[in-house]
Amino acid sequence: MRAIAISAFGADPELIEVPEPEPRPGELLVRLRAASYNPVDTKIASGAMKDRMSPRFPLIMGQDGAGVVAAVGAEVTGFRPGDEVYGRFTDPARGLGAYAEYGVVAEDGPVARMPKGMLPEQAAAVPTATGTARDLVGAARLDAGQTVLIVGATGGVGQQAIQLAALRGAHVIATAAPGAEDLVRDLGAEESVDHTRGPVHEQVRGIRPGGIDAVFDLVTPAGSTGPMEELLRPGGVICSVVHALDPEALAARERRGVNVVNHVTGEVLADLADLIDAGRLRVRLVARVPIERAPGALAEWATWHARGKAVIAIGA
Ligand SMILES: NC(=O)c1ccc[n+]([C@@H]2O[C@H](COP(=O)([O-])OP(=O)(O)OC[C@H]3O[C@@H](n4cnc5c(N)ncnc54)[C@H](OP(=O)(O)O)[C@@H]3O)[C@@H](O)[C@H]2O)c1
Repeated sequence: MRAIAISAFGADPELIEVPEPEPRPGELLVRLRAASYNPVDTKIASGAMKDRMSPRFPLIMGQDGAGVVAAVGAEVTGFRPGDEVYGRFTDPARGLGAYAEYGVVAEDGPVARMPKGMLPEQAAAVPTATGTARDLVGAARLDAGQTVLIVGATGGVGQQAIQLAALRGAHVIATAAPGAEDLVRDLGAEESVDHTRGPVHEQVRGIRPGGIDAVFDLVTPAGSTGPMEELLRPGGVICSVVHALDPEALAARERRGVNVVNHVTGEVLADLADLIDAGRLRVRLVARVPIERAPGALAEWATWHARGKAVIAIGA
């Protein structure tokens, strides 16, 4: 099968031929129709996370995908060949990932039936970004009427976080560079601040001098979150997806800090599919390339100003 893989950490992604994986007991073999790009895909390929994994090379890149169950391993009871599914198809120890014509996933792992109204390309864009946004809202225990600032709101995770926070009844302030204000408002933000114009915390302090209840920070690195933390009222919560926070130091100042690591399960994906089917949650695709063009596109996506999700179309 064709796949986009790296031969070693730091090597350029290449289109290569590799054997189709065999589903093990309890696993689904899925003919993938699309995969989506997440920044972690290129971080892994660069070797930035090599201390946390022992992959087999060539390592197929990617996590999120959607397609059709082609075969099931022994003991699988919940899915059948022909089922349309979406989820995360990654097993680095076997060299497997989602940028490939076939992927495997455990039936009790991060896989669920595709949202009914979606194309595989749209469904493939959901798991990591939307699952992480859901985890942010959950970790913050966001309530109706609370005000949340989302830093990095225009990207893959941010757009989903705006929608899920607004669905909770929260008042969302979103960062948006010039030209992206309408985008974040259309997704449910009630106010926006332009992070290219000056420090975000100063702008938010200007419109909310009494402080805010929550910050979802998708961008600020460790060592630089202090000004965002200062925006919180006592009892407020800040969540980082880039492990930037010191929760103990925050607790000492009567604030909560949560370094969120996404936990995307089949149940989570089934819940998200229900929300999508009900028309309450959408995903915005801004780039699509066929698998042959993925290596070049990945270099671009790793450094672009994301305004939604990028997907790789695989096969017919
Ligand atoms: N912990 C986890 O489980 C987890 C899960 C998913 C993602 N992540 C991480 O979360 C981060 C975001 O992921 P993503 O998929 O949303 O990335 P993305 O799609 O690339 O979006 C990033 C967004 O942030 C904006 N941005 C960049 N610098 C900014 C700043 N200083 N202030 C405000 N906005 C800024 C970008 O727009 P402009 O460039 O135009 O400003 C872009 O819209 C990545 O580092 C990713 O690896 C972690």
